[in-house]
Amino acid sequence: MTPPARAGGLGPAASHERLLILDYGSQYTQLIARRARELGVYAEIRPGTGDGSGIRDFAPRAVILSGGPASVLEPGAPPVPAAVWAAGVPVLGICYGMQAMAHALGGRLEESWPHEYGAAELELAEAPSRLFAGLATPEGGRLQVWMSHGVRVTGLPPGFRVLAGNAVTPIAAMADEARGLYGLQFHPEVRHTPEGLRLLATFLRDIAGFRGDWRIEDFEIETIRELATRLPDGRVLLALSGGVDSAVTAALLARAIPGRVVAIVVDTGLLREGELAGIRETFRSMPIDLRVVDASPRFLAALAGIADPEDKRHVIGRLFIEVFAEEARRLTDIRVLAQGTIYPDVIESAGGTGFAQVIKSHHNVGGLPASLPFEIVEPLRWLFKDEVRALGLRLGLPAHLITRQPFPGPGLAVRILGPVTAAGVDLLRRADRVFLDELTGSGWLEQTSQAFAVLLPVRSVAVKGDGRAYEPVVALRAVVTDDFMTARWAELPHALLARISLRLTNEVPGLSRVVYDITGKPPATIEWE
Ligand code: XMP
Repeated sequence: MTPPARAGGLGPAASHERLLILDYGSQYTQLIARRARELGVYAEIRPGTGDGSGIRDFAPRAVILSGGPASVLEPGAPPVPAAVWAAGVPVLGICYGMQAMAHALGGRLEESWPHEYGAAELELAEAPSRLFAGLATPEGGRLQVWMSHGVRVTGLPPGFRVLAGNAVTPIAAMADEARGLYGLQFHPEVRHTPEGLRLLATFLRDIAGFRGDWRIEDFEIETIRELATRLPDGRVLLALSGGVDSAVTAALLARAIPGRVVAIVVDTGLLREGELAGIRETFRSMPIDLRVVDASPRFLAALAGIADPEDKRHVIGRLFIEVFAEEARRLTDIRVLAQGTIYPDVIESAGGTGFAQVIKSHHNVGGLPASLPFEIVEPLRWLFKDEVRALGLRLGLPAHLITRQPFPGPGLAVRILGPVTAAGVDLLRRADRVFLDELTGSGWLEQTSQAFAVLLPVRSVAVKGDGRAYEPVVALRAVVTDDFMTARWAELPHALLARISLRLTNEVPGLSRVVYDITGKPPATIEWE
C-alpha cells in the first residue's frame, strides 16, 4: 500500500531550507543525508536517475550528487539531469557524483589504475579553496580521506581548477568556485575521512548559505500542529508493536489529537517476558485508548508443525494482518490509520534496485487488505532513527524504551528453531529473561547491540542430581554492530558467561545445556532464522 503524499507534497520541507541529495546508488547516500541533518540542514534523497522535473518545485538551496556503482565510461551510466545545473545553486559531486559532473560539463575521464580503495592522503593545491577553509590539516597541508573508485577525472571541465590530489589521483577534488560547483573523488560523509563533517559543514553553511534551521523541536511543534489540522475530528487507529517507531508515533498522536487515538497491540504470544506489561505501563498516562488483543492461541495453532523459517514468517505476517484487520473492521467510525514508517523505510521501498536477494522476509502492517478503507498518516516518514529517538525522548517516552535493542516482528518464533510450541515459548522466555538480567546487571547490555537466547531443536544428555536428563539446548547470541548489516560476536567475559550458564541450568526447568554463539555476520545472520 503506497501512502498518499502529505498535504502540500513537501512535508516538513515546506518550512525549511532544503538540501537535495540525488542518489546514484552509493551505500553511503543515507549517510550524507544524516550528516546534513546533524548539521541542522533538512535533506531529502531522490533518485538521481530521473529527468529532474521535480527539482524546481523542491527549490533546493544546494544539491549533492551521491556516489554510485556505475562507471561514466560505460554505456547506461545515469547522467546528471540538466535541471541541476539550471537550478543555479551550489552543487557538490561525491565520487560517482564528481565523475558525472565532470562528464556532463566537458571534462575527461579514464579508468584509474591502480584502483584506489580505502585510506588515502591528498595534497591541497596552493591557492586555497573556500571548501577547505578551516580544516585541521596537518603540517604540509595533507588531507586524510577515504577513497573508493575505479574511474578518475583526467581532464578538468572548462572553468574548473584542481583543489587536491595525489600521485594516483591527481584530480581528487575540483571546483568551479565562481559557479559554486565542487567535485570530490573521496567520501566526506564517512568517519574514515576525519575532516569530512567539517568539509560538508563548510559546503552547506559557508558556500550554500544554509542557516541550519532544521531542529527536532521545530519538527515536533510543526507536526503536532499539522496533525491536529489534518485530523480535525474522528479517531485514528494505530498498530502498536512495542518498538520505538510505533511508540513514538503513538506519543506524537497523543499530543496532537488527545483522546482520539486507538492503539491496538496484537498479542501474538511470541513476545518476550514483561513486554506487554511494559507497553501498558508506558502508555498508562497518555490519552490513548490502548487495546490488547490476545491472539496467542491463534498464532500457536497456525504455527503448529511449521519448521521452515520463511513459512513461519509468512504465517505470522498474514495472521497479524488478519487479526488487526478484524479489530479495525469492528471500529466502524475510523477512517485513518497511522503507521510508524520512518525515512529509511521510505527510501528503501522507493529506491530498491530489485536485485537484492531476499534473505529474510520482514513483516509489518504495510500489507493491509485494500478493503479496509483507511487513509494513511505516517508522521515519522521524514525522520531518521536517531531523530525518531530524540523526538521520543522529547515526547516523554522512557529512555529504556527509546534505546532498547531491536526485536524482530515475528518475535520468539524465529528464535525457536523447528516447530513452535507453547512449552518452547515458555522455556525460551525464561532463559531470555535470565540472560538479559545478567547482561543488564553487569553493564554488558549497553555494550552489545542485540542479545538474546535461542532454543535449539536438539536434546542432549545431562546428569542432574543423580538422575539422567535428556533435554533441549539453549544458545546465547550477543553481537556488536553499528548497522546490523554486519556484526561481530560480543566478547563477553568468561566469568559472566559462567554465571549466566549456572543460573540458566539452575533456574530454567527443562534446560541442562547452554552454548555461546561465536559466529560473525557474515556469514551467520544475527537471528538464527
Ligand atoms: P538478521 O537476522 O537478518 O537481522 O541479521 C538483522 C536485524 O533485523 C532484525 N530482524 C527482523 N526485524 N522483522 C523485524 O522487524 C523480521 O522479520 C526480522 N528478522 C530479523 C534482527 O533482529 C536484527 O536486528
